[in-house]
Amino acid sequence: MADRYLHFTGTAPGRFLTRRLGLPRPAPLHRWSPERPALEGPLLVLTAAGSGLDGPLPGIGLKTVTAADRPAGVLLDATGVAGAADLASVHAALHPVVRTVADSGRVVVLGARPCADDHHQAAAQEALAGLVRSLGKEIGRGRTVNLVRLAAPSPTAAESTLRFLFSPKSAYVSGQVVELTDTVPRQPADPARPLTGRTALVTGAARGIGASVAEVLARDGAHVICVDVPRAQADLVRTADRLGATALPLDITADDAAYRIASTLPDSHLDVLVHNAGITRDRRLANMPADRWSQVVDVNLSSVLDTTDALLKTGAVRRGGRIVATASIAGIAGNTGQTNYAASKAGIIGLVRSLAPRAAAAHGVTVNAVAPGFIETMMTAAVPLLIREAGRRMNSHGQGGLPVDVAEATAYLAHPSSGPVNGQVLRVCGQSLLGA
Ligand code: NAI
Repeated sequence: MADRYLHFTGTAPGRFLTRRLGLPRPAPLHRWSPERPALEGPLLVLTAAGSGLDGPLPGIGLKTVTAADRPAGVLLDATGVAGAADLASVHAALHPVVRTVADSGRVVVLGARPCADDHHQAAAQEALAGLVRSLGKEIGRGRTVNLVRLAAPSPTAAESTLRFLFSPKSAYVSGQVVELTDTVPRQPADPARPLTGRTALVTGAARGIGASVAEVLARDGAHVICVDVPRAQADLVRTADRLGATALPLDITADDAAYRIASTLPDSHLDVLVHNAGITRDRRLANMPADRWSQVVDVNLSSVLDTTDALLKTGAVRRGGRIVATASIAGIAGNTGQTNYAASKAGIIGLVRSLAPRAAAAHGVTVNAVAPGFIETMMTAAVPLLIREAGRRMNSHGQGGLPVDVAEATAYLAHPSSGPVNGQVLRVCGQSLLGA
């Protein structure tokens, strides 16, 4: 499971050999830890073609400057970019600074929604997505590049997204476009533990990504209910005990799954629902029996649809609640031997896009997905060696992600201030070449 090549390239002989042989050297990524919780350096704020914002940028905990030798982050306000001619000012702003961004630093372009009735503005704003995706591939050294699109001139909607992207929590998120709504965000009472007093339920929490999600949500203050199949009970109880969480052994495909979840909730209510449980049963379609097909669709998609419907309908998910489902880049790019898995994960994307606006309007609940790329877990450890090695390297960071990368992205979507983030499919893939 461990990435031995990444470890080797971090040693003195590894550095020597990779330099001599011209081999790729993936950068060690700065991930969040209590000792290093923030990017280390100032945030350089630039503007291209005049700002389209009607207020100041929200504070995100970094010192803001207008010039810096070695910024930890660069925020380019490109909200005023309204035509192809304005793109020259985007180049003029970024060209002199891009080389100076610190290792594991961040570039975020703040744009506006492309207008349906102004094709010049739409062309220029869409151009920013192309720039971001290309710069993400070029920039290297653990640095990331992302685009955030505002729906309205008020920048307050961007606060939780900018906090996440300009932090070590987004180490494996690059080349992404996050579209915000104009919902006014709410502030948590305790910003250090934003989920204090909230209940979160995570499926598939006995191990892998789910265990990490449970841990990060508990770190952020939530009381977590960890769900996994009864045969994983020993691991489930170990995870739950470590986190002061509740273990609920349950097969989420059971007919009474939603009822059993609802009856475990401390005060019959839930604030964060994370659909993480998932399985693979790979085989080419021509060789795939019906049971392998339906097992995957049942766990990865049908159970998500059924429990979501039941918990929303009964009002178990509180107003201000968050639903985060787990897609996959396989659901975006497709994958040989995974018609069942990719169908189920693409289905998750369909669910999120359709339900998000209605859930927000009717219940005040957001619905988003994370789409992990290659993450180092037991699921990917089971992949044959050569395919595994290709999956690991074929992204802008040249390495696999860790479960905590998906967990941090989930915690960002679950954050009380992330109300304006709705209907998004956030890839946590180090800008994988698959489906790019
Ligand atoms: P994993 O196999 O390590 O863990 C999945 C967990 O879900 C297990 O503990 C399993 O017992 C549980 N589970 C399976 N069926 C269940 C059911 N019917 N009811 C309750 N729990 C059930 O998988 P991993 O790697 O942690 O993946 C987590 C999620 O992320 C899955 O949805 C997976 O499809 C998705 N994903 C993972 C990627 C990776 O690279 N590891 C890439 C893309 C998506």
